[in-house]
Amino acid sequence: MTRTVALPTGERVPAIGLGTWKMGESAATRDAEVGAVRHAIDLGYRLFDTAEMYGEGGAESVLGRALGDALRTGAVRRDELFVVSKVYPHNADRDGVPAACDRSRKRLGLDVVDLYLLHWRGAVPLAETVDAFETLKAAGSIREWGVSNFDLDDLRELERLAPTLTAKSGRLHCATNQIYYALDERGADFDLLTYQRTLRMATMAYCPLGRGSLAKDATLRSLATARGTTAAQLALAWVLRRDDVIAIPKAVDRAHLAENIGAADLALTDEELAAIDAAFRPPSQRTPLAMV
Ligand SMILES: NC(=O)c1ccc[n+]([C@@H]2O[C@H](COP(=O)([O-])OP(=O)(O)OC[C@H]3O[C@@H](n4cnc5c(N)ncnc54)[C@H](OP(=O)(O)O)[C@@H]3O)[C@@H](O)[C@H]2O)c1
Repeated sequence: MTRTVALPTGERVPAIGLGTWKMGESAATRDAEVGAVRHAIDLGYRLFDTAEMYGEGGAESVLGRALGDALRTGAVRRDELFVVSKVYPHNADRDGVPAACDRSRKRLGLDVVDLYLLHWRGAVPLAETVDAFETLKAAGSIREWGVSNFDLDDLRELERLAPTLTAKSGRLHCATNQIYYALDERGADFDLLTYQRTLRMATMAYCPLGRGSLAKDATLRSLATARGTTAAQLALAWVLRRDDVIAIPKAVDRAHLAENIGAADLALTDEELAAIDAAFRPPSQRTPLAMV
């Protein structure tokens, strides 16, 4: 995969990563999931998205086992990997953040989490969470921090409380907002994505396959047949038509894993984009950000 997306620091990360929600939930499927993630590394996946919530740490453990094996056998170097995890809102206070991050690092078998996100807004004041993230960064436990499921008002609040940080570095110290962004939920096209671009934040698109439903969509299937690709690949190529969006499809099926990473370098034609817009109408007004 050659496509990358710039973070506000200028660091470039792969445009397609692997999601891990629903992994690590059952002992019966755990070994197969570790095998799938390990296979993903062989296919070239380097960015991985997880959270303390997924399988209550189970997904982080699955990812940790696969990464550990790949690092031990020399299949990949640590500096080639970009691992994202998330803190529960109820753990996002001054003491909770470092404790949750320690547990995540342990399950992942990593000293440093590359990007640590607030999973969604909760009751803890945002300033306290940001402070805790900056402290973790200074301590070297995380490299970057960001947010998830933030709508426009939340981002404006974040901007207001980080002016000192921004002035010092010339950029908002928030690497990304991870949001539901896919053909079946494209409300962010109205203004959120543009706003994030002005903040020089990358957008991380979760559920880019509409939780699998877009792979079965009739319009995408007929366009895919004409082109010799798959509907899932077109759905991912659509998300990646913007140069500031990273997609994190989840897959354990090996054919899915290969298909998805193969979509990174697929560019849609104007005709395909028009046909897609006709089937999935662009938003004509602001709607609250979709969340799962
Ligand atoms: N920040 C948040 O609040 C938030 C919320 C939701 C998700 N996320 C993150 O985003 C990731 C992706 O979202 P998601 O897992 O909900 O949904 P998704 O990636 O849109 O869809 C995953 C589903 O699609 C199937 N699939 C994958 N590739 C396919 C292909 N090429 N053809 C047909 N089906 C395919 C998968 O099946 P198999 O597994 O059987 O291959 C799985 O059932 C999550 O795993 C998680 O890391 C974050």
